[in-house]
Amino acid sequence: MADAKLVVRMEKIGVEDLPGVGAATAEKLEAAGFKDMMAVAVASIGELVEVTGVSEAVARKMINAARDSMKLGFETGMDVLKKRESISKISTGSENFDRMMGGGFETSAITECFGEFGSGKTQIGHALCVNTLKEDPDAHAVYIDTENTFRPERIRQMAQGAGIDPEDALNRIMVARAYNSDHQMLLTEKIDSLMTEQGKKVRLVVVDSLTSHFRAEFIGRGTLAERQQKLNRHMHTLAKIANSNNLCVYVTNQVMAKPDQFFGDPTQAIGGHVVAHASTFRIYLRKGKKGTRVAKLIDAPNLADGEVVFEVTEGGLKDIN
Ligand code: GTP
Ligand code: MG
Repeated sequence: MADAKLVVRMEKIGVEDLPGVGAATAEKLEAAGFKDMMAVAVASIGELVEVTGVSEAVARKMINAARDSMKLGFETGMDVLKKRESISKISTGSENFDRMMGGGFETSAITECFGEFGSGKTQIGHALCVNTLKEDPDAHAVYIDTENTFRPERIRQMAQGAGIDPEDALNRIMVARAYNSDHQMLLTEKIDSLMTEQGKKVRLVVVDSLTSHFRAEFIGRGTLAERQQKLNRHMHTLAKIANSNNLCVYVTNQVMAKPDQFFGDPTQAIGGHVVAHASTFRIYLRKGKKGTRVAKLIDAPNLADGEVVFEVTEGGLKDIN
């Protein structure tokens, strides 16, 4: 018990506890997005000087102290194994889909589904919410909705399909509408406080869609680098939330036509290498025959690539018999 208290206290140490950081500097740091030890630990001296106005020597001290406090560095293979043993999987509702994913969508990871409109990306997001709430009665899900496609009615239907109380399910999903990419990034940064301040056990974060605002706001070749940098930062925030809280991040992504490709499927995911590299698992979704959906696993660290057919029904995702 005493140990648990100690851990909680340790985690509460913030940037204001760093040497040379008073209230004013802490405020400047936080305003610039350096909200915790990790952000300072990986910052450059120049960045900290710029945002706080402290001397280089002080900035160096801050960075070193932040690094010391975080035990940055190596861990044993056994530590990694222990961490991996705490990873759990969230069911899609389709046994075949789950099997392809090694049991379901993993916690401590980002899974991306990309595909054309109507391919089922949003339906998967809804199904994961319901299933994670079913699997863990204390769990909460966070749904960041950029296209206004979250539908409580669908949650109710899928909850009924999964045999859980629809009201309880709706009460355990925290929905936020993101109005632009900055708002989307800010909401993601706030997820921590749902856990630390409100004590909610968040097991799933859905960002649907990951890329639509970025795509709409940065138009033209000249803005591409800026868009990618921002998207990269966003993916890092998501990866950090996934890893440090052992939760599953599910992001949806659109495709764009790639007219210069004559063979194979002429579509390509938005966000390029930034999204591709930051996602632990990548799934390409498309419409199949007779209203079915096809999910193709194209990138996974420890699973074979594969393909499954499933269907979206009123009660959730189902195998094709
Ligand atoms: P975009 O966001 O437009 O890119 O598409 P998406 O990939 O998110 O598609 P979405 O998940 O919204 O899939 C929509 C499709 O799911 C519909 O065209 C239907 O085929 C199917 N669907 C949605 N609701 C139901 C339902 O209640 N019952 C059944 N059987 N199918 C549904
Ligand atoms: Mg959608």
